[in-house]
Amino acid sequence: MDSLILRGGNPLEGEIPISGSKNATLPLLAAALLAPGFYRFSNVPKLKDVRTMSNLLRILGAKVDEVDHELLIDTSHATHVEAPYELVKTMRASFYVLGALLGRHGEARVSLPGGCAWGPRPVDLHLKGLEALGAKLDLDAGYVVASALPLRGATFEFGISSVGASCNVLMAAVRAEGTTVLKNIALEPEVTQLANFLNRMGAKISGIGTRDLTIQGVAHLQPADAAMIPDRIETGSYICAVGMTTGKVRLTNTDPHELPSVIDKARQAGLTIETGADWISVERRGGALSAFDITTDTYPGFPTDLQAPFMALATLAEGQSRITATIYTDRFTHVAELARLGAQIHMDGNSAVVTGVPKLTGAPVMSTDLRASVCLVLAGLVAQR
Ligand code: UD1
Repeated sequence: MDSLILRGGNPLEGEIPISGSKNATLPLLAAALLAPGFYRFSNVPKLKDVRTMSNLLRILGAKVDEVDHELLIDTSHATHVEAPYELVKTMRASFYVLGALLGRHGEARVSLPGGCAWGPRPVDLHLKGLEALGAKLDLDAGYVVASALPLRGATFEFGISSVGASCNVLMAAVRAEGTTVLKNIALEPEVTQLANFLNRMGAKISGIGTRDLTIQGVAHLQPADAAMIPDRIETGSYICAVGMTTGKVRLTNTDPHELPSVIDKARQAGLTIETGADWISVERRGGALSAFDITTDTYPGFPTDLQAPFMALATLAEGQSRITATIYTDRFTHVAELARLGAQIHMDGNSAVVTGVPKLTGAPVMSTDLRASVCLVLAGLVAQR
């Protein structure tokens, strides 16, 4: 089994360039299926999820080459329409190809993603949105079998603001005949990047950056290039790291405007944060951290992906912090692992109540998912023997 060994105790000093956003890259890779041709994506993070999505594109007939932080993609011969279970079950974002395949081919066979380490993650809104556009959907042996001849523009309101469903339905809507109005679309920067990218491909989406998008369907799209936006979750994780260890770190190639609620909470915890157009400097010079309360919410609220990292910070903050999960209410596997390091946390429904302790103590812990693992690494940076 893979493991990381951390020896805590050092302040962090220096400069870290932030990677391109994982959650922006994955839907753009799906969008490259919409129009045959050549795409160049830059500022792409080197991650397993990006490789998994690249492999899915290859299975669908595309060529994908990774050169440093660029992906060169050729979807000229991406004519297959089946996304297999073996791949989709390893990464939920693979389900995004459903909307793109429907948009380009009018048919798709995509495995349902199945379970997740932090509880149910339904896809009903993805399916309802596609059905509203005239797609016929059947379930066959765990696969969604979709056909649409043709997709037709419609008005659809997402009952819950969903990043995944917004991306999936938007990719189908750009090819639907006539006008589509998508209401209560997610405002996360990754969705905005997708909408802007689709427009560069020739789509006609208006209202980008607001809750309601109006889309005039087009018969043809063409390839476009894209540079991925900075990863706001990676940025927030490093902010926590400095909060844990003390020191001063300048985060470059990032966008402070994408982290309003995160910077606010970090300041409440006692960190000194300065920002420029594309950098954030984080400093903590001794002194106790202060307790803070967090409720995860849709953008621009506090991101669910930073709930676990900020819980690591709260374990050392003087007083009682309350961390409430509203997007995924079961996303708390890290709580029991933090307790093994000496953290004092009790659950109160979908809230974790964290009472700060003066120090954490090193111990073996188990990582369950990406952000829970980041939280444990952060704790390991300061855990004592
Ligand atoms: C969520 C996060 C996203 C994060 C990702 C991975 C939000 C709003 N989204 O995206 O920022 O990067 O996890 O950690 O914070 N839902 C339904 N039916 C659906 C789809 C979603 O009920 O068909 C519900 C979900 O259960 C959840 C909420 O809607 O409570 C938001 O889900 P969604 O944004 O789609 O989740 P992800 O795309 O996984």
